[in-house]
Amino acid sequence: MARLADKVAVITGAGSGLGRAMALRFVAEGASVLVADINEAGAQATVEAMGEAAAEHGAFRRVDVTNEEDCAAAVEQAVECWGRLDILVANAGIGTPGFISTMEKQDWERVLAVNLTGVFLCAKHAFRAMRASERGGVILNTASVAGMQGTPHLGAYGASKAGVIQLTQTLALEGARYHIRANAICPVWADTPMIGEFSAGSRATPEELRARLVSAIPLGRLGTPDDVAAAAVYLASDEASFISGVILPVDGAHMAGHGG
Ligand SMILES: NC(=O)c1ccc[n+]([C@@H]2O[C@H](COP(=O)([O-])OP(=O)(O)OC[C@H]3O[C@@H](n4cnc5c(N)ncnc54)[C@H](O)[C@@H]3O)[C@@H](O)[C@H]2O)c1
Repeated sequence: MARLADKVAVITGAGSGLGRAMALRFVAEGASVLVADINEAGAQATVEAMGEAAAEHGAFRRVDVTNEEDCAAAVEQAVECWGRLDILVANAGIGTPGFISTMEKQDWERVLAVNLTGVFLCAKHAFRAMRASERGGVILNTASVAGMQGTPHLGAYGASKAGVIQLTQTLALEGARYHIRANAICPVWADTPMIGEFSAGSRATPEELRARLVSAIPLGRLGTPDDVAAAAVYLASDEASFISGVILPVDGAHMAGHGG
């Protein structure tokens, strides 16, 4: 039995990496998915990767999550295409590393705009559509382990993700009476183009950097997009119908403590 049969989802940032893996997995589990990304070519490639299922169950749209009209239009398009919205995955994000003492204000503001305000705007419009349909729904936000603890060189990113975690908890409380669940996934370093973005400016070679990242993960490897997509399918499915307000690390025991 497909675990997301007949569900309708919007996934932001699904033109690459974790979002693309989630979109493909959601469609394989029976959902219809609007792939929303600022990178239109990436979004289109994700829909093409859905294969035959794309004809009925895939669509894409260029969306800048910092633009409220774009976020509202993505929700409207999903409702127009498939009759309702059951799931929002607010996943679009940027890395933009930098030390607090040298980071430019405009870089700080851009990270907050995409990673936090973008989640707020998408959640706001998804929430309204879910409430109007009276079926409830699921809001799933991609935060990060960097939002659960400090990380040198990722101050703006970590602050934005801490905000996403808190916003998720508030959404869970405000949504409960409408049967809207909200949860956040916190990946550890996962093998996507963003890893390159995080390492920008580092003096380490990519191999040295990768070894350093892996050494902080007790299970001994980086995360994969499929690790994250599997958690997303579960949290979005009716199997998780009593799970809301949860902040789920998908992190190979990274957050469990020291000495693994
Ligand atoms: N890869 C990791 O190690 C890691 C770890 C923890 C959390 N995350 C989070 O996972 C999410 C997905 O990241 P990823 O690793 O797949 O990175 P990625 O760079 O492969 O994908 C990010 C996607 O977001 C899109 N995007 C960026 N700005 C946008 C905007 N303004 N509007 C719409 N789309 C926009 C990009 O075009 C891209 O397709 C992000 O929120 C990221 O912070 C990633």
